[in-house]
Amino acid sequence: MAQNQAWTLASYPSGWVTEENFRLVTAPVPAPRDGEVLVKNLWLSLDPYMRGRISQQKSYVKGVEIGEVMVGQTVGEVLVSKRPEFKPGDKVLTQLGWQLFGIARDPVKLTNLQVPLSYYLGILGMPGMTAYFGLKEIGQPKAGETLVVSAASGALGSVVGQLAKIAGCRVVGIAGGEAKCDYVCGELGFDACVDHKAGNLYRDLKEACPKGVDVNFENVGGEVLDTLLRLMNLHSRIVVCGLVSEYNATEPYTYKTLRSVLVNRIRMQGMIVFDWRERYGEALKALGGHLAQGKLKYRESVVEGIENAPKGLIALLRGRNFGKQLVRLA
Ligand SMILES: NC(=O)c1ccc[n+]([C@@H]2O[C@H](COP(=O)([O-])OP(=O)(O)OC[C@H]3O[C@@H](n4cnc5c(N)ncnc54)[C@H](OP(=O)(O)O)[C@@H]3O)[C@@H](O)[C@H]2O)c1
Repeated sequence: MAQNQAWTLASYPSGWVTEENFRLVTAPVPAPRDGEVLVKNLWLSLDPYMRGRISQQKSYVKGVEIGEVMVGQTVGEVLVSKRPEFKPGDKVLTQLGWQLFGIARDPVKLTNLQVPLSYYLGILGMPGMTAYFGLKEIGQPKAGETLVVSAASGALGSVVGQLAKIAGCRVVGIAGGEAKCDYVCGELGFDACVDHKAGNLYRDLKEACPKGVDVNFENVGGEVLDTLLRLMNLHSRIVVCGLVSEYNATEPYTYKTLRSVLVNRIRMQGMIVFDWRERYGEALKALGGHLAQGKLKYRESVVEGIENAPKGLIALLRGRNFGKQLVRLA
């Protein structure tokens, strides 16, 4: 009989995540009951939010307890169905976490199989939705404005920047290292990209944004956000989407330039993608349309096999991913 393998949380990390924080357990593949389906997971998404789920700090959803299977979105194939709407072979989006097989009660059937299944974890999934609603509803970019997006080569930042280009903005990315910056300008078509590891963040950003910044789509926080605050224009907007540079820190970053929010009447708003869950269909249609027309480019960073999931998460949090971080499970 096939065996399931699952990563559970062994201990809460203090500071940086290590592989010792997780334990790989083996158990028989479970059998579905009425109303459930048994799914074989094909792809697992690794996302920065996972660091928050294994922290004991209060957050917007409940964290993972010691001994529980690590959370995560997955795309898989139905093996056994005890629900009339699903049959074996159907491809589904689920929240089964870091494991090879799982029982799903509320899978989402994937009907457009023209695109790679993994896209439903990235550009056509949660990161894509976040980019779409954060930009449209909070950033509200107008043609001719300057938009800056950090983690620009990543799952979310790459989509934000390309959508802002479609909206007619001057788009400046921030990314770590020359290769990522080359990709952001050369492949994604951004107007400029600043390497935050080069050591001249303020000077380089000022040069890339000669008319200041109208929209900052903030994915990183810390020094990047503090520096950008110095360049924001009157009545500009900051979409506080993520603060990945702070997720492993043991001490909070101390912001020095918050005064800019007051002086420039900046609208700075946090966002969590779930708040738009009723409208995911709208984002899927828009992003799918752009993708089909070749207007959106996208790349993935894949680690192979369930055994490497912790390594993949650590790589993502260290910025060693280049594109949407995934684990291929089958
Ligand atoms: N609010 C929401 O609903 C929501 C939903 C999804 C994601 N998010 C947030 O969006 C952000 C991007 O997520 P993603 O899934 O697209 O990940 P990603 O951008 O594909 O990967 C994370 C990237 O963050 C950058 N990074 C890590 N540490 C950094 C540091 N100390 N300073 C500067 N950059 C650093 C690295 O890029 P470089 O090498 O280029 O620095 C790394 O590749 C995260 O903050 C995440 O939490 C928010």
